[in-house]
Amino acid sequence: MTRKTILAVIAAMALIAGCATMMSDAEVSKKSLQVMKSSFKERGQAKLDRLDQDEVQAACSLYGTPDKVPKDVAQRLEQGQLKAVRYPADGKFVGDWKAGETIAQSGAGKQFNDDPTRPSGANCYACHQLSKQELSFGTIGPTLLNYGKLRGSSEETRKYTYAKVYNSNAFSACSNMPRFGHNGILTEQQIKDVVALLLDPESPVNK
Ligand code: HEC
Repeated sequence: MTRKTILAVIAAMALIAGCATMMSDAEVSKKSLQVMKSSFKERGQAKLDRLDQDEVQAACSLYGTPDKVPKDVAQRLEQGQLKAVRYPADGKFVGDWKAGETIAQSGAGKQFNDDPTRPSGANCYACHQLSKQELSFGTIGPTLLNYGKLRGSSEETRKYTYAKVYNSNAFSACSNMPRFGHNGILTEQQIKDVVALLLDPESPVNK
């Protein structure tokens, strides 16, 4: 590099640093969103509106990790999310655990190259241990082994489990668990089926 180019590089860096310190966090977020929107392309079902954050996502981005969210903010977000949970009209929370196991195992759906007319999976095993038979599981979430055995199957537990899968943020704001019902990833019947996987005494989770 010649001296002239080095000076030019330093001048450019100073300019970037100067701009960065002059922008507020909100302005940086707005600019980043503009850059992403202009450089990402819509493909199949993956539309650019996926970059738009709802109230919960915006608050969670602001604080970074769940433990950094102030208590009053977390409470407000959780209450709002819980209110938006749509419970099954027939009042039943539990479906078929075998279908639930297939859903828990599958990571298909919602990507640009997935067929949007086919049901999505939930990839529960990517984050949770669920049954003794499945040795390949992630540990981002707590183990759910013996979930039903440990908690029983009262109306309260069934309702909580349905709502937790429907919208994890209704109970822990900024949780890393996807909001399966809220975001239309799983249907009502599919949520019932994974609830059955967790609660049915015959399910491998409780054997
Ligand atoms: C991307 C990771 C991820 C995926 C995928 C995921 N979870 Fe979770 N889950 C978590 C984390 C992290 C927690 C703990 C924080 C919280 O409570 O939200 C959790 C908590 C839970 C809890 C609460 C446990 C308790 O003690 O009350 C249940 C129930 C649960 N998950 C079920 C499921 C089921 C069923 C699926 C699939 C339909 C699933 N999770 C998919 C990350 C995940």
